[in-house]
Amino acid sequence: MEIEFERPYKKMYDFVFSNKRFSLCIGSSQTGKTTGCLTWLFMLALAGEKNKNYLWAAPYYSQAKLAFVKGQNLLQNVPNIDFNQTNLTIRFPNKSTIHFKSVENPNSIYGNTFHGVVIDEATRTREEAWSAINTRIVKTKAPLRAISNATTSSNWFYRKWLHYSNSPDPDVDTHKITAYDAIEAGILDREEIERQKRDLPKEIFEMEYLGIPSAGGDNPFGEEHIKACLKPFSTQKTLIWGVDLAKSVDWTVMIGLDYQGNTTKIERFNGTDWPNIIEKIKNTIGKCPAIMDNTGVGSPVVDSLLSHGYKIHPFQFTASSKPDLINNLIVSVQNHSLSFPEDSIVHNELLSYAWEIKNGRLSYTTYSTDDAVMALALANWGLKYKIGNFLDPGVVDVQKETSIPTPEKLEELKEERIRQWMNEDEDDEIVTVKFK
Ligand SMILES: Nc1ncnc2c1ncn2[C@@H]1O[C@H](COP(=O)(O)OP(=O)(O)OP(=O)(O)O)[C@@H](O)[C@H]1O
Ligand SMILES: [Mg+2]
Repeated sequence: MEIEFERPYKKMYDFVFSNKRFSLCIGSSQTGKTTGCLTWLFMLALAGEKNKNYLWAAPYYSQAKLAFVKGQNLLQNVPNIDFNQTNLTIRFPNKSTIHFKSVENPNSIYGNTFHGVVIDEATRTREEAWSAINTRIVKTKAPLRAISNATTSSNWFYRKWLHYSNSPDPDVDTHKITAYDAIEAGILDREEIERQKRDLPKEIFEMEYLGIPSAGGDNPFGEEHIKACLKPFSTQKTLIWGVDLAKSVDWTVMIGLDYQGNTTKIERFNGTDWPNIIEKIKNTIGKCPAIMDNTGVGSPVVDSLLSHGYKIHPFQFTASSKPDLINNLIVSVQNHSLSFPEDSIVHNELLSYAWEIKNGRLSYTTYSTDDAVMALALANWGLKYKIGNFLDPGVVDVQKETSIPTPEKLEELKEERIRQWMNEDEDDEIVTVKFK
């Protein structure tokens, strides 16, 4: 029987088929890490002695299962292979078995010895897993491959990788594979990676695609960039507002931006007297569009303003929309395409942000309130992506995505509308639509 596998690209090949017993790699997302390691482990198991056990270690069950399914796909044309979905094992005709396991509880791997091991997503596994796995290959002197994205510079796997990168060892090899290596190999699309580079904060891009870990702790916006965004209040007309509503104890903050992203006004009020807050919002935004938080208590506030003809685009905070919104703000601050006054609440809140590592993922934490930053983030997002909804006078239902003009049209409208906007009379009355 002859079984053929795709040969991994050069950089991947050098890592997995290294002639050292231990080969460790820091690799970018989506560079074929899992596929490369599966190919190596399959070839090892197929070419090795009969009746041996091999281990695929993943941080969680779901990731072990994902690799198992990828493995199944890679082997789909190979006859006489037994795939056990329940135990996540693949058994070859030579009776050797690959066990796909979560090492969330490192004790679960005791009992077997292994003749080859892959640790996938190593930075997300616990350091105890490394010691536990090593006890399982002491006797067999089995080879081990470990690969992962970079996370933080203090992560155990990254420290190990760095240690062996700096102090050569006869048994250990280290490698790094970036998104650009995968682009060269034709696996990733250059344009897509360049887009990610534009859209992601520098620190996240470097971590995900260049294998550079985050130091953590630092300000995600960059203190020098925050400083570069400091300017007195703009005296231009406000083009858009961002409104973050108080939930229980915190503040309602409204931030207005002019057409160039300069802050025109900051309004901040305490409390949850909603009729009163709605009045204040009405008086502040007037005819100007606003991106408004409509999470929880926000929803009736948004509905009330919409029913009175105010130009509101609701924004729902979720576990994924909130970090996206902040990422977007980070990019704008780092490009200096926004400004706000020195010592304003938004300046002080921005300075209180820090990177934080949660479950092996990079996220943000703040030592202060975040209402002003959220209001700025909403206004910024609105200015970048949603202003078009409000620019065409024919567009009434601002919530309908289908009403957004094409990007080219939007640009035209924007110029045109901004000109009109500047000349409009501030005191025009709001037209109220209401049921009897
Ligand atoms: N040598 C290759 N040639 C072409 N496509 C490949 C190659 N290796 C992997 N791919 C494809 O690239 C995608 C990502 O592969 P894989 O899951 O192995 O990467 P990964 O680096 O482990 O990704 P992740 O960052 O999600 O863990 C898959 O769709 C896979 O089929
Ligand atoms: Mg993978």
